[in-house]
Amino acid sequence: MKPRIAILISGGGSNMISLVNAIKYNKINALPAIVISNNSNAAGLDKAAELKIPTRYIDHRKFSGNREAFEKRLHNLLQDEKIDIICLAGFMRILTKSFIDQWNNKILNIHPSLLPKYKGLNTHQRAIDAYDKISGCSVHIVTSELDGGLVLGQRTVDIESTDTAKTLAEKVLIEEHILYPEILNKFINDRYMK
Ligand code: GAR
Repeated sequence: MKPRIAILISGGGSNMISLVNAIKYNKINALPAIVISNNSNAAGLDKAAELKIPTRYIDHRKFSGNREAFEKRLHNLLQDEKIDIICLAGFMRILTKSFIDQWNNKILNIHPSLLPKYKGLNTHQRAIDAYDKISGCSVHIVTSELDGGLVLGQRTVDIESTDTAKTLAEKVLIEEHILYPEILNKFINDRYMK
């Protein structure tokens, strides 16, 4: 049985689109069950609807700082949808240990740096400020250590002296769109198709 995937987004959703398209073109052995955003105005929600993927949003602001309550709603939705794997794709909420424990080894994330370098935010500016010559992206398993779980794959880009955080982000994003589908498919074939 193909695993059911939930893709969690907060913004534009370009990684979500690359995953959905890869599934549609049979490059990933999976079913794109649902796209969930933590805010109602994430542009990615409309794009997912155009791709005919069911969408939901759970507005984290309505939970006024009660992270557990937000995550309980999210967990229930994921269970209702019989989700096997959660793909974080530009999902900008930190998940608690208790949520992650419930989905142990079933949450993947894409991060715009060559982990373990530059966990957290502003990765591109930090790479430029450090005069790094290469940067890139990583797909990793989500654990309770922020951006700290096992790295499953990476792709690199050269940093030119003319690069800004914006141009570097654009270059890295192109690699993200290649990396995430490849790694998700490998993850599924290794763990679900044997
Ligand atoms: C991507 O660059 C992704 O790696 C990054 O947000 C962007 C989302 O773009 N994720 C993180 O920084 C997570 N800490 P997208 O909405 O177009 O996929």
